[in-house]
Amino acid sequence: MAIVLEITELRNGQNNYNADFTLTNLSQASICDWTLNLFLVGLLEPTKCRHVELVRQDGSFIELKPATSTQLSPGDTFNFTLQVDKLALNKITDLPSGIYLTEQATQQLHQVEFAPFILPHVEVSKRDPLNQAAPQAYPVIPLPNKVSLTAGTIPNRPNVWVSGAEQLVQELEVFSTQLQHHSLQPDNAIEVVCEQQGQIPAQGYEIQFDRKITIYASDRLGFSHGLTSLAQCLNANQDLPCGQIVDQPRFNYRGFMLDCVRHFRSVDKIKQVIDLLSYYKINTLHWHFTDDEAWRIEIKAFPALTEKAAFRGHGQAIESQFGSGSEPYGGFYTQEQAKEIVAYAAKRHIQVIPEIDIPGHSRAAIKALPELLLDPADQSQYCSVQFYNDNVLNPALPGTYQFLDAVIDELAEIFPAPYFHVGADEVPEGVWEGSQHCQQMLKDNGYQDLRELQGHLLRYAQDRLRQKGKTLMGWEEAIHGDKLEKDAIIFAWRGVESSIAAANDGYHVIATPAQYTYLDMAYDRSEVEPGTTWAADIELDKAYHYEPLNQDLTLEGKARLMGVQYALWSEFVRTDSQFDYMVFPRLLAGAEVAWTQSEQKQWQDFQARLSLHFDYLDHCGIKYRHYK
Ligand code: ACM
Repeated sequence: MAIVLEITELRNGQNNYNADFTLTNLSQASICDWTLNLFLVGLLEPTKCRHVELVRQDGSFIELKPATSTQLSPGDTFNFTLQVDKLALNKITDLPSGIYLTEQATQQLHQVEFAPFILPHVEVSKRDPLNQAAPQAYPVIPLPNKVSLTAGTIPNRPNVWVSGAEQLVQELEVFSTQLQHHSLQPDNAIEVVCEQQGQIPAQGYEIQFDRKITIYASDRLGFSHGLTSLAQCLNANQDLPCGQIVDQPRFNYRGFMLDCVRHFRSVDKIKQVIDLLSYYKINTLHWHFTDDEAWRIEIKAFPALTEKAAFRGHGQAIESQFGSGSEPYGGFYTQEQAKEIVAYAAKRHIQVIPEIDIPGHSRAAIKALPELLLDPADQSQYCSVQFYNDNVLNPALPGTYQFLDAVIDELAEIFPAPYFHVGADEVPEGVWEGSQHCQQMLKDNGYQDLRELQGHLLRYAQDRLRQKGKTLMGWEEAIHGDKLEKDAIIFAWRGVESSIAAANDGYHVIATPAQYTYLDMAYDRSEVEPGTTWAADIELDKAYHYEPLNQDLTLEGKARLMGVQYALWSEFVRTDSQFDYMVFPRLLAGAEVAWTQSEQKQWQDFQARLSLHFDYLDHCGIKYRHYK
């Protein structure tokens, strides 16, 4: 039997809880001179701990020791109290995991079980059932922009046969993998003809549903969109009404961001996600590779990045984070695997944009390459939003540029997309103040404000990327320090207002406001509903009703809003089934936000169409959130 940690009482403070913990030694062995290592997503103040002392907090990793030397003999209990922010113990996904004790003298580790407890006043979420009426026309998500019906139906049959698609080998292959019930066979088949038609706008398509089905488009992407809509119609496995679809996307950029840092996702899972992005006409995978908690992409010039920072755990360069525990935990993508994913996505007309998050969120790189990236004389004091004091690159060190050159050069070769994302979010206050090198750099360049050092570094990256034919993308803080050329593309995440401000200010913008598009936000406030809520709770209808354009945008600003992106940050998303639950079906609502003109969207009809898609998600093995 094991050692067990419980929360035995949770008392309300003002904005915090007093959490009483009990540690019980149910093993046969005595444990001496121990520290307790646990995961908590709140800042723990040393003065707010009773009967324990805070040894260290790095991010979500907390190490405590008993305030007075305490041996835990078999059967002993040890009680302590922590005062924590309410947001840190708000949801089922906040509960500690990956807990262990370390005996200091021997460095022997003991795994600790967390005994589940019932949070007070638990309310299971009250999700409303979906409208299950028949959809108004074709069961396509995102809703096509123009649909009309005529009399009659096309009878459903088990075979479908496409002709006129000699130039569309790839598209047809993808189409065949999308079919749930039908076979691509000529016998007694539903007849489909692809017909080139030059006046149809790029990416657009038309489908004529008559005795036979004709798909018109002017380019391969248009045919791909048409075939995907047709696959969705066929997958409903019903007779199809005669009529017409005339369709093209509202926004050219329709993205999904995948954070593979906080918890690693396998190549197979990413391919499954890409299949679904393509099925819902999302055309960009933004791949978040690096952060404070890991480095996930092979860089041949600096193998230490993945040797030291792809796996975390006890005794590793990066300690356990987000409940990953003492054992080595993680993974990374070789350059070959990244190329395989890029090719897999390209076949489905999806571009993959890599993100290397600098200068903040860089703790993994710094831990892996301290000789290059660490300024040992830097006395700056700061605390990042996720409680690190050592996660920012120093723009005054030559090593920073050596590192950046290698990373940009190698990744630019692997990712053919014309974009490259450099992060730039959440650089904490106080950084660089205590660095002589940074102070000197300020003087040398005539800069007034430390934020200009960030601007300087990002401008360097922008110039290097431009030489590679790439446009720099960054989170909205990339404009801090005001050094970027205006062709930078800004991902406005903190709110709807920031996308308006950046677009009106002359930047091209991707709208990704956390309040609507961050799929790590819980669906609702129930304690048993997973996720976080710092920005909002996002029920399906809220995700659906997000409108990126706004009356405060100038005409030019409106033209600069390139599109919308939904995102899955993964601090609380450990397993693939948790991933599925958070992403589906909200991403389908997002697909409609990004594709369908706002005046065409209809929440009731979306629900009716969505009800016909769950069977397909089941078929794909997706553990989506249910609505009945
Ligand atoms: C972000 O959510 N920090 C971009």
